[in-house]
Formats: sequence, C-alpha cells, structure tokens
Amino acid sequence: MSAHGRHDTVNRLYPAPHEDIQLEGLYLDHLLHKRGQADQPYVYSNFITSLDGRIAVEEQGRTTHTVPAAITNSRDWRLYQELAGQADILITSGRFYRQSRVGEAQDILPVGDQPEFADIRSWRIEQGLQAQPDIAIISGSLDIPLNTLQRYRGRRLIVVTGEAADDGKAQTLLDQGLEVVRAGAGRRVDGRLMVERLAATGYRSIYAIAGPGVFSTLLKARAVDRLYLTFACTLLGGHVFDTLTRGEPLVPALGMRLGSLYHDMHAPAGAGQLFAMFESGN
Ligand SMILES: NC(=O)c1ccc[n+]([C@@H]2O[C@H](COP(=O)([O-])OP(=O)(O)OC[C@H]3O[C@@H](n4cnc5c(N)ncnc54)[C@H](OP(=O)(O)O)[C@@H]3O)[C@@H](O)[C@H]2O)c1
Repeated sequence: MSAHGRHDTVNRLYPAPHEDIQLEGLYLDHLLHKRGQADQPYVYSNFITSLDGRIAVEEQGRTTHTVPAAITNSRDWRLYQELAGQADILITSGRFYRQSRVGEAQDILPVGDQPEFADIRSWRIEQGLQAQPDIAIISGSLDIPLNTLQRYRGRRLIVVTGEAADDGKAQTLLDQGLEVVRAGAGRRVDGRLMVERLAATGYRSIYAIAGPGVFSTLLKARAVDRLYLTFACTLLGGHVFDTLTRGEPLVPALGMRLGSLYHDMHAPAGAGQLFAMFESGN
C-alpha cells in the first residue's frame, strides 16, 4: 500500500524526476491518435513478458498457448485498454478467433465493455474518435470462424491477406459482409503494403494486439513506431513458449530507444512490474 493506503500510482523512473503518477490515464496522455499523418499512420504494439522473455506458454489441458496467470494482472490490462482507446484500428490475427472458438482467448477485443473501462470509452468520444476501433484481421489461411465475429459486427472488419490466399474462402468472408484486402504476394501479408492500404483507408493510429507472427511482419517492414512492453518481474522457465518475435533475423537489428519507464510495485503479487515504452530509432 502507498502512503495513502491506495494502489493508484506507479513510480516514474524515466524520464527524471522520479515521481508518483496515477496509473489511470498514464497512457491515455500519450495521444497516439494525434501522432499519425495521412500518408503515415502511427503504428504501435504492446506485450507483457516475463523476465525470461515468455509472452505465452504451453499449458496442460489447453490446445493453444496462453499468457500465464503468473504475469497477467488488471493493472497491465488497464494500460492495454488505454492504448486501444487511442486506436483507429486494431490489428489482430486469425489465431485470436480460432482461440475464441475453443474458449481459450484471453478476453474480448478492446475497448472492453466492462464498467471499469467506461471512462476510456467516453474519452474516445470526447477526442472525436469512433466509439470503438475498427478491426483488421491478418490471415494467410483465411481460417476465421465467422461466429466469433458476431459481437464485433458494429465495427468495420477488414481481413488482410495475400494475393494467393484461397479465393473461395475470401468470397465467403465477403458474402458475410467482411472486407478483404490483398496486401502481399503469395499467401503472406507484407507489413509495409498492409500499412499503406490501411493509411489509404483513412486510418491514422494502428494498434497491433496480435502475437509474435504479426509483430514480426510489422518489424520486418520497419513499420513499428512504438513498443509498449511490460516486464512482469517473474521468471517462468518451461520448455515451450512464445517470445515477442520469430522468423528471419532482423538485419540490421532494429534499435529502439527508451521513451519512458515506470515501476509498479503492486502487481504481480510479490514481484511487481516495469512499464516500459520504446520508440523506433528509424
Ligand atoms: N503476452 C502478450 O502480451 C501477448 C500478446 C499477444 C499474443 N500473445 C500470445 O502469443 C501466443 C502466440 O501468438 P501467435 O504465434 O499465434 O501470433 P499471432 O501473430 O497472433 O498469430 C499468428 C497468425 O497470424 C497470421 N499471420 C501473422 N503474420 C502473417 C502474415 N505476414 N501473413 C499472413 N498471416 C499472418 C497467421 O494466421 P493464419 O494462420 O490464419 O494464416 C498466423 O497463424 C498466443 O497464444 C497469444 O495468446 C501474448
């Protein structure tokens, strides 16, 4: 507990000076929706990782990897929602909807409809944003269970895929009222082309909330402006896990500069966490 007997602050470590800052509103203040321009949308992503670099692990009784309970917590989740509050569009992957089909998705897509996020939903309206961010779904397989999209029908749903993706599956998605954008040769999406297409559609702030496959696609295209990374001060070990990126090495390696760093001593219990923000050196 803090001196006031409450857990409503985190301690800013960078930039100086050290100061206790309210957790609620911490990332809303970044006004990311104002950073993008017509031909250059602002692209950002967010992960929570253990100290040993795990963002998801294999868990008994589950068919897909999960973000373990040892690192998830409501304080980090609040910031994840605040970042979504500033987005014109979310980038998700086919994986999320397949996880939803088997009841293994972490939560519904943000901004959450829970009462504790009502202020974020109102804030969007005050800022002149739509009530909810639209949704892009990156998929090469086009294996997207349609029933899992039902609750997002109020938003524009754009499937982004490659030129060679299955025409029949694409037509089924079109018949169901989704949009299909081809951005890349073969079945894979090219990150640069995707961002260009989304910019041409009018999106200025793009929040990638998918996993390492999508993040690697964006990194390969050098399209990421900002990475929000929460380090839960916990070591998980284990044999099978995901980390932030995968695939071909990034050559040259992508430098990212620390933009801000906060220490939160209140979660996860007995560990605490660091809320870091990095900006692309590009
Ligand atoms: N700790 C955290 O902060 C955090 C954040 C996000 C995710 N996670 C976890 O990380 C785990 C692993 O996620 P994931 O590996 O499934 O990553 P992902 O990036 O969410 O999904 C990978 C899928 O995205 C599609 N995809 C990605 N790049 C593509 C491209 N260039 N072209 C076409 N399709 C592309 C493919 O879908 P198709 O197979 O449909 O072609 C691919 O199977 C999940 O269990 C998730 O819960 C953790």
